[in-house]
Amino acid sequence: ASLPAFDYTVFGGTGDLALRKLLPALYLRDRAGQVAAGSRIIAVSRSALTPSDYRAKADTAIRRHVAADELDEGLLDRFLGRLDYVSVDATSDSGWSELAGRLEGRDEPVRIFYLATSPSLFGPICDRLRSAGLVTPDARVVLEKPIGRDLDSAREINEQVGAVFAEPQIYRIDHYLGKETVQNLLALRFANSLFEPLWNANHIDHVQITVAETVGVEGRGDYYDHSGALRDMVQNHLLQLVCLVGMECPISLAQESVRDEKLKVLRSLKPIEQDDIATCTVRGQYRAGAVAGGAVPAYADEPGIPAGSGTETFVALKVEIDNWRWARVPFYLRTGKRLPAKMSEIVIQFRPIPHSIFPQTAGELQANRLIVRLQPDESIRLHLMTKEPGPGGMRVRPAPLNLSFAETFGGRFPDAYERLLMDVVRGNPTLFMRRDEVEAAWQWAEAILEGWKARREQPKPYIAGTWGPSQAIALIERDGRTWHEDE
Ligand code: BG6
Repeated sequence: ASLPAFDYTVFGGTGDLALRKLLPALYLRDRAGQVAAGSRIIAVSRSALTPSDYRAKADTAIRRHVAADELDEGLLDRFLGRLDYVSVDATSDSGWSELAGRLEGRDEPVRIFYLATSPSLFGPICDRLRSAGLVTPDARVVLEKPIGRDLDSAREINEQVGAVFAEPQIYRIDHYLGKETVQNLLALRFANSLFEPLWNANHIDHVQITVAETVGVEGRGDYYDHSGALRDMVQNHLLQLVCLVGMECPISLAQESVRDEKLKVLRSLKPIEQDDIATCTVRGQYRAGAVAGGAVPAYADEPGIPAGSGTETFVALKVEIDNWRWARVPFYLRTGKRLPAKMSEIVIQFRPIPHSIFPQTAGELQANRLIVRLQPDESIRLHLMTKEPGPGGMRVRPAPLNLSFAETFGGRFPDAYERLLMDVVRGNPTLFMRRDEVEAAWQWAEAILEGWKARREQPKPYIAGTWGPSQAIALIERDGRTWHEDE
């Protein structure tokens, strides 16, 4: 179905996210024919730029961040023609009447305000949008993460934004929910009869979720050092993955059903108390090392990072979901910067068979493992035990059933932002976080932050280009398990 025209006003329009992700995503949707005639993107920031300066910036950014075979001069020109720029100061009166002038008389297109700024500006921007008379009953606001830095600040932001926009108008982005393979978890679990009967503590031994990155702080030192891996990745992206793996079957795909089920998982997370900090959490920080053959500096020597910073760039956790389905099934989570590979995957480790008829000489029996690779090389692999072919008697060994998305479906997978930006235009908030979800996630994550603080838990060092501090390996091996390694 064709989508309505929109006016996307992007606060933080000259920022990294807008230039690297939002503009390329909108260009690609435009290229795919999804952007209705008359749609506009109005970038806003404090910088004194003219619209044509901004278009030049956008032009460079899109050429840099869109694959060469997706660049088309004619289409890019048309897209740049949709861009406008207004210099607005979020914290003073300056620029607001100009912005109002740009939106005046534009009642037809869907009006969207995308706040890609520091979260401390979310409240002030919403207030000024209201005073400027720009908040129409159907207007939507998109909030980038992080929504605050703890439960209190998240609540405050939610209050401030909620005083201007009603909850159904608010779209809190977690871009992991826009990834194809993440949505595919819903299909894997609920469009197949094979897995769901086994998807519980009777048959699953444990779950592993790894979100590994090779990049460092990428010039975002100031933000990152105040945040750290737990706030930057675990509170949002990893917990959302836990929710999709752990939730009950929603009654439908309608927005509230899925979000209701995710919320129940968040509320069932067993709190990590101070006494559990040593056994259930690992904080790490990278030292100088080498990633993909190139030498990289220590975190503390990155630009913008104060010497002696105690911020973590790696987290590993042992998490439990206290409910009937998941009792005593640990979810081991780990995420970090400057790890050996950019790789995100979910491993479902099934329990061993109850009894073996195979002699030891037949080889080692391994329990089944389902591996959902989120990125790169999206795939679903199921490790099965099979007989080794040949006449030499019965020998068994594991072999994968491998569903590679590239091989099966070909073509390119849209970036998460492409999907999510258009869902806002569509008015579909299913893949966005509701207020209660964000707050439940903070409540749980905050206990860990507090535990670390109370116990003065300094990050353990790891060499850039390795899988984190040795304590992260101990975290899982203590339980007689190991992190999944690619064969
Ligand atoms: C962002 C974090 O939310 O996600 C970044 O702020 C991180 O620190 C990024 O690099 C990872 O996203 P992706 O899509 O590259 O896995």
